[in-house]
Amino acid sequence: MYSRKSFRPSSNSTYNFKSAVRDGYTAQQQEQYTKYLKKLKSEFEERWCKKQRFSVEISETETVTTLGTGAFGRVLLLKHKKSHRLYAMKVLEKEKIVKMKQVEHTLNEKRILESIRFPFTVYMEFTFKDNTYVYFIMPFVSGGEMFTHLRRMGKFEEPLAKFYATQVILALEYLHFCSLVYRDLKPENIMIEKTGYLKICDFGFCKVLQGRTWTLCGTPEYLAPELILSKGYGFSVDWWSFGVLLFEMNAGYPPFYANDSMRTYEKIVSGKYRCPSGFSTDLRDLIRNILQVDISHRYGVMRNGVMDFKNHKWFRGIEWDSVLNCRTQSPFIPKFKCPGDTTNFDRYEDEPLVQHTRCRFESEFIDF
Ligand SMILES: Nc1ncnc2c1ncn2[C@@H]1O[C@H](COP(=O)(O)OP(=O)(O)O)[C@@H](O)[C@H]1O
Ligand SMILES: [Mg+2]
Repeated sequence: MYSRKSFRPSSNSTYNFKSAVRDGYTAQQQEQYTKYLKKLKSEFEERWCKKQRFSVEISETETVTTLGTGAFGRVLLLKHKKSHRLYAMKVLEKEKIVKMKQVEHTLNEKRILESIRFPFTVYMEFTFKDNTYVYFIMPFVSGGEMFTHLRRMGKFEEPLAKFYATQVILALEYLHFCSLVYRDLKPENIMIEKTGYLKICDFGFCKVLQGRTWTLCGTPEYLAPELILSKGYGFSVDWWSFGVLLFEMNAGYPPFYANDSMRTYEKIVSGKYRCPSGFSTDLRDLIRNILQVDISHRYGVMRNGVMDFKNHKWFRGIEWDSVLNCRTQSPFIPKFKCPGDTTNFDRYEDEPLVQHTRCRFESEFIDF
C-alpha cells in the first residue's frame, strides 16, 4: 500500500457545558470552554515539570504482533500478562536514534506523551528502556489508521469527514493552547478507536513552541509554504496541514501532489489546487480559507482563532461540546471481532527484538 514517510484522554474529567447551541458556537460558549482549556493546560504543565514514575515492569508484559513500522523502530501490540490489557508499544533502537541525531526529539516525544491528556490524542501509559531499545507504551487504538480506511473507502462522505475534522480542530486547539506545535498531521498518524472516534498519535515532531521555529520536518504533501520557504514559522503550519487533511479526506488524494518532493513544494508554494466537482460549496469555501499561502489570511491563525472554524457554514449542525464528550454517534465504526483483533492494521513480518549483552548509549538516554 502506498505510504508517505515523514522525514526525518483518558482524562476522566468531561467538559460540562451549560447549553448546547445547534448552529455554531457562541462567544459565551468559547469563553466557558477556554476556562476548561486553562485547567487542562495547568494539568499539562504540572505533568511536564514532574518526573513520571511507572510501576509496570517489562517482564510483566508480552508482545503479540507488529502494528506499524517507522524510521527508528516499530510499534508492537503488547499484552499485560496478568490483566490481559492491550497496549501499543513503540520500540525505538537507541543506536539509530543517536546516528540520526534524534536523541532530543525522542526525549521530547516522551515528555510530551507523558504530559498530554485530551480525548482525541494518545498518551503515555508507561515506559521501559533496556540495553538496546527505549519503549513508549500507549493505549492500543484498535480501529487502525485513518489512512487505511481512507484508502479502503476511496474517500469519506462529507458527514464522516466533518465528524473527523471537528475532532482534529479540537485536538489542535488543545495542543496549541498548551504551546505545542504538532507538525506531522496526516491520515497515517490519526488512529480510529473502536467507538469510531479519533486519537492522534506520533508526537515525534511535536514541540513546545516559544515564538518561532525553523526546523524543516513533516511530510512533503502536508508541509506549509512558510515551512518550505524556511521562514520562521509557528502554529500556522498545523492549520495548513489541517487544510490538506480536510481536502484529502473528502477527495481521497491530497491537493498538492507530484512524483518528486521538489515539484510538490513548488505546487504548495504557488497555493494552486483544484477541488473535485463533488465538493460542496461550503467545503470549498472552508478549504479556500485554510489553504492560504499568506498566513495573515489563514483560518486558525486570524484574530478569531478557532472560532472561524467553529462558526463556518460547513460545520453547521455540529455540536462541538457533544463531540468533545464523545456523545455524538460516529458515522463509521471500524469492524472489530475481539479485543486483540488487528485486521484494521497492515500485516508486517514479526521480527524478534535483538538484545545486546551490554547497555548501549547509556549516557545519551540517562534521562529516559
Ligand atoms: N497507540 C497506538 N495504537 C495502535 N497503533 C498505533 C499506536 N501508535 C502507533 N500505532 C501504529 O504504528 C504506526 C507508527 O507509529 P508512529 O508513532 O506514527 O511512528 P513513526 O514516528 O515511526 O511514524 C502508526 O502509524 C500506527 O499504525
Ligand atoms: Mg507516524
